[in-house]
Amino acid sequence: MIQTKQLIKRVGDKVILRGVNLSIKEGQTVAILGPNGAGKSTILKVIATLIKPSSGEVLINNKEIKKHALEVKSLIGYLPHASLLYDHFTPLENLILFGKLYGVKDVEKRAKELIEKVGLSFFLHEPVKSFSRGMIQRVAIARAIVHEPRIILLDEPHTGLDQQAIVILNKVILEMKAQGTTTVMVTHDFKQAAEICDRIIIVKNGKIVDDFMLENNNLDLVFDKYALLTEGVV
Ligand SMILES: Nc1ncnc2c1ncn2[C@@H]1O[C@H](COP(=O)(O)OP(=O)(O)OP(=O)(O)O)[C@@H](O)[C@H]1O
Ligand SMILES: [Mg+2]
Repeated sequence: MIQTKQLIKRVGDKVILRGVNLSIKEGQTVAILGPNGAGKSTILKVIATLIKPSSGEVLINNKEIKKHALEVKSLIGYLPHASLLYDHFTPLENLILFGKLYGVKDVEKRAKELIEKVGLSFFLHEPVKSFSRGMIQRVAIARAIVHEPRIILLDEPHTGLDQQAIVILNKVILEMKAQGTTTVMVTHDFKQAAEICDRIIIVKNGKIVDDFMLENNNLDLVFDKYALLTEGVV
């Protein structure tokens, strides 16, 4: 489903990615862990077609994303650090706008369902600018999945969410997984990674330093492997 081949990203004389090779199967839920500045968000941005690698390539469904950018974009739902929402629009207006961009059918119905799903029905008509950080993150999650993408790329999705919203988000990811959606999630939250993901990738200094399957939500294994590879930096 997702393949990266020898991705290298340089900015000036700084090397951010140093040859990232990845192969992710359809329906997998993958967590990318690693210290600050390791290159995790950069990997997501390259896969999301937001930035170009200096060399190397990304294939989605065996198609090179450079050559099939539009088609690939419609398959992807990307949740970045910044919400991408329009501040003075309500959640409903935001979701309808993004839904229309992606050609979603019955867009108002879909938008309302999603807003209900993320627990914001009460705030349907309030402008997003009046929302708290966690509320904005809830709308941003709904925005990222409005077009029912086959691949979701989530950059620290649990940040700022309260316990209820964490449960909602995990449920959304697992429901989408059950329908065959592929998830790649960058996170510092090992507990959520272990709860949702069946594969863990650890990135350090722009390279993948570990890549293993996770069974039975084995959180201890994640901590142990991470501590070993990052020399105690947790
Ligand atoms: N546009 C850019 N110009 C210069 N340096 C950049 C640029 N984008 C990223 N970097 C650098 O690349 C490195 C990796 O950044 P990235 O955002 O991918 O890290 P990260 O692993 O997501 O870190 P964090 O856990 O803090 O979010 C950092 O050292 C960052 O300063
Ligand atoms: Mg990051």
